[in-house]
Amino acid sequence: MTQPFAWGVATSAYQIEGGRHEGGKGTSIWDRFSDEGRLPDSGDVAIDHYHRLDQDLDLLADLGVNAYRFSTAWTRVVPDGDGPVSKEGLGFYDRLISGLEERGIQPYLTLYHWDLPQALQEKGGWESRDTIEAFAKYATILAETFGDRVGRWITQNEPWVSAFPGHRDGAFAPGLTSWETALVVSHHLLLSHGRATKVIRDVVPEAEVGIALDCRPSEPANEASVAANRYFDGFRNRWYFDPVFGLGYPDDIVDAYTERGHLPSGLEGMVEEGDMEEIATPIDFLGLNYYTTVTVSTENEESNEPEAPVGPGAPEGFTEMGWRNNPRGLTDFLERVADSYSPDSILVTENGASYTDGPDVSGRVADSRRIEYLDSHIAATLTAREAGVPVDGYFVWSLLDNVEWTQGFSQRFGLVWVDMDTGERTPKDSYYWYRDRIKTSDV
Ligand code: FCB
Repeated sequence: MTQPFAWGVATSAYQIEGGRHEGGKGTSIWDRFSDEGRLPDSGDVAIDHYHRLDQDLDLLADLGVNAYRFSTAWTRVVPDGDGPVSKEGLGFYDRLISGLEERGIQPYLTLYHWDLPQALQEKGGWESRDTIEAFAKYATILAETFGDRVGRWITQNEPWVSAFPGHRDGAFAPGLTSWETALVVSHHLLLSHGRATKVIRDVVPEAEVGIALDCRPSEPANEASVAANRYFDGFRNRWYFDPVFGLGYPDDIVDAYTERGHLPSGLEGMVEEGDMEEIATPIDFLGLNYYTTVTVSTENEESNEPEAPVGPGAPEGFTEMGWRNNPRGLTDFLERVADSYSPDSILVTENGASYTDGPDVSGRVADSRRIEYLDSHIAATLTAREAGVPVDGYFVWSLLDNVEWTQGFSQRFGLVWVDMDTGERTPKDSYYWYRDRIKTSDV
């Protein structure tokens, strides 16, 4: 990439926008999940970004970032997922993109951050190949509308998370509980990435397109856990990275899934001719979302459970998500990705820490643990860059405290404190710290 290093922050539509009934927006699977009472805090209002757009844009400008990663809500653009387009919905993103332009900030547009239109879920959701087609149409609409102003596109955010907590564990929307469904969904999410990459390029040949993959680097708990760790790595990491970079699904995991009955007939019936080539459509950059590493044994080789208690009072070395604070893991994983897959460019599209530190009597939010986390992870990113890994950007998750999915407002990742009763925004110490970090950066 010829652009300057991207210093950014990331958000997603459901977590911040609210405006559930504004501009003809349709119902997404997360809206439905919330209606069913399965979220402690709903995204109906979220942090009301929909109505506070200008204020939030000013927060970005004052922060001094040159890049902003956000997602568009499919149901705002195409309320039923496939069919009529909402002009008002597009109008909202038009105002956002213009606002970024006026402030000299590059938009990084994510097409899908988990909020599938409920109307499509009712027709089979990501289990159905029709959803891939609908996604390609939605991608085309956005590329045609914003292709002249948005240079960087991210197709899918974290297909593992969309697939597993949502379809195997029943924990996330749409709340299904089948291994096989999760794997079929995973496959279709990856295919939709390949297809969207192609349609965006067809419409905007100069667009740069990538995918944001999450990762869970791991190490074996002891000598007896080496095989378990290898399996976990296949399940969480290689199953996504390998096919995106043209290596296909890892054989050891195909075998294990077949033996364990997760995919009783192996890839047969799931993978059709041409699928693997489509998934491997070349990308311009890889987005990497990194938060933590885990220690694996047979006990947790298929699990997504955090290693430490969740909530305030995080033990030393862990965030309030129960995630280990391990910056070294980021350097190592960046180097591994470069060695194994040789991407042209990598962006750390999410990295951040949840701590509930709030305003003191003077109103100041002294979130020193977040500063320490960000400082060490930015250093870890730059260490990999100095070692020759082509890392071209870093995005803090997140600009603002928001709806952390099933944990609602109880987990706070923001550089800006949000009063959840009034919506008032207060930059935390980490906001000012990041501003200085960007200003004094020599990359
Ligand atoms: C990632 C998600 C993001 C946010 C962070 C904490 O998995 O992409 O929306 O929830 O975790």
